Amino acid sequence: MSNKILVTGASGNIGSQLVRLLVEAGADFAVLRSKEPETAAGAPHSGYETRYASFDDRAALTQAFTGIDTLFVLLPLVENKVQLAGNVAAAALAAGVKHIVRSSGAGADPKAGFALPRLQGEIDALLAATGIACTFLRPAGFMQNFATFMAGQVKSGTVYAAQADAAQSLIDVRDIAAVAAKVLLAPEKHAGQAYTLTGGESLTTQQQLDSIGQALGHPVKYQAVPFEGAVQAMQDMGMPGWVVELMDSLNRIVAAGYAAGISPDVERLLGRKPITMAQFARDYSAAWH
Ligand SMILES: NC(=O)c1ccc[n+]([C@@H]2O[C@H](COP(=O)([O-])OP(=O)(O)OC[C@H]3O[C@@H](n4cnc5c(N)ncnc54)[C@H](OP(=O)(O)O)[C@@H]3O)[C@@H](O)[C@H]2O)c1
Repeated sequence: MSNKILVTGASGNIGSQLVRLLVEAGADFAVLRSKEPETAAGAPHSGYETRYASFDDRAALTQAFTGIDTLFVLLPLVENKVQLAGNVAAAALAAGVKHIVRSSGAGADPKAGFALPRLQGEIDALLAATGIACTFLRPAGFMQNFATFMAGQVKSGTVYAAQADAAQSLIDVRDIAAVAAKVLLAPEKHAGQAYTLTGGESLTTQQQLDSIGQALGHPVKYQAVPFEGAVQAMQDMGMPGWVVELMDSLNRIVAAGYAAGISPDVERLLGRKPITMAQFARDYSAAWH
């Protein structure tokens, strides 16, 4: 049976690792980019097919999904995310996609009391309602956040967050990508499943930063701030209200201890332990120099 895969979000944190693994596996796949490159530097990769369509454009998505059996759906964190998911669902139905693998978020539930898992759950429900076979990957917070939007704070030696002294089971995006590759290569085995993807350690923010400090050779401190202080700081940085609301909900989830649980799914699916915080810190130490 044919299994042509399309990877959306292919240029992002998870997607770029996933593409690497699909190349290694010799998979029959294409990637989706939101727009045609404007410079030669953005030219498509010669090793696999690139299709162009924005999640905003249902007709272009339908064309891009044509001939695709298995669709990896990764939506960016934008205000109209549910609307974009509606476009993906309609285009997948119109194009005859057979299986959707959706990168969602831990705790996704349309009835959740907190804004972020409620949003993720609404999108999961919307995709499931297509009747197309679905698999949901629900990752915890990414270790790589320390190397992307929090890199400046790590470099400064102090990381500020409103997460009290609570522990979290952060995951390395390379493990999310490894699970995604496994599911995409044999989707029928995972139809109707939802996997919670966490790391194998439940660590406080200071313990996470201790691993980074060890890799760097100097300490990095955690400074807890109150929820209201974090909201004020995000507003002062000019973040839109909808982002502030989602991030505030995330802080409250973590501080209450809801992000501390360790799921067995990564180890069960990959047959090995998840990547540790210490390993992540060693592999990404260039991000903090
Ligand atoms: N950070 C965390 O701790 C965490 C934890 C759990 C879940 N999540 C979820 O994970 C997702 C982010 O994953 P990520 O960090 O791997 O993504 P990312 O690095 O932010 O990349 C976003 C991707 O979306 C694509 N994209 C953006 N606008 C598009 C459009 N209009 N049409 C088509 N494609 C578009 C981009 O492709 P182009 O370059 O082609 O535009 C890019 O590949 C979010 O949904 C977030 O809620 C994050």
